[in-house]
Amino acid sequence: MARNLYAAEFNAMIQNRRSIFPEDYTGERVDDAIVRQMLDNARWAPTHKMTEPWRFLVFTADGIQALAAAQADLYKSVTEANGTFKESNYNKLLTKPTLSSHIIVVVMKRDIKNSVPEVEELGAVFCAIENMYLTASAYGIGCYLSTGGITYFEKARELFGLESDDRLVGFFHVGIPKRDYPPGKRKPLEDISKWITSA
Ligand SMILES: Cc1cc2nc3c(=O)[nH]c(=O)nc-3n(C[C@H](O)[C@H](O)[C@H](O)COP(=O)(O)O)c2cc1C
Repeated sequence: MARNLYAAEFNAMIQNRRSIFPEDYTGERVDDAIVRQMLDNARWAPTHKMTEPWRFLVFTADGIQALAAAQADLYKSVTEANGTFKESNYNKLLTKPTLSSHIIVVVMKRDIKNSVPEVEELGAVFCAIENMYLTASAYGIGCYLSTGGITYFEKARELFGLESDDRLVGFFHVGIPKRDYPPGKRKPLEDISKWITSA
């Protein structure tokens, strides 16, 4: 009985989890202990051959200002050189991070010796990210994964000290939500699954 109750709560937690964006954060600081719990649960994601390929750099308080300035500078130097600079993108990179309480830079640390294909290592890191999402939901915290901005800039790898086979996966924003999580939307189960029960 107790176990069924737990399962029902767990199912609701998964289906009610939402991405909450920085514009919808109050600006208050999330307790560091909750962020630590998110990271602690992240490392319990499944991992082929136990490579544990996730790494996290947590920026908060003045660290967020430093991250904002560094990513805006990087954007400017790369895009001015290739002629794609946009003032609006630059300003967004400089100001948007300050809306978040914590920003967790998520990295896939690759050990080429272990023979696990890269796609599996990235898969493990995305499982870890889902654990962070769900932990945040359990505490009523807002969060979302951003893969925009400088995520795919080659020079961003240097900024965060990545080695040649590592990958910058994204920026996980965390904040106190201004309001309840909005409803979500998904295709019906029938559209995305098929059971094969006979020969
Ligand atoms: C791999 C991945 C990358 C994402 N990148 C972005 C992003 O760059 N910008 C953004 O607004 N949302 C991003 N998201 C969040 C999605 O927009 C969000 O998950 C989707 O809208 C579904 O909403 P839900 O998470 O509330 O169910 C990303 C999600 C995933 C899984």
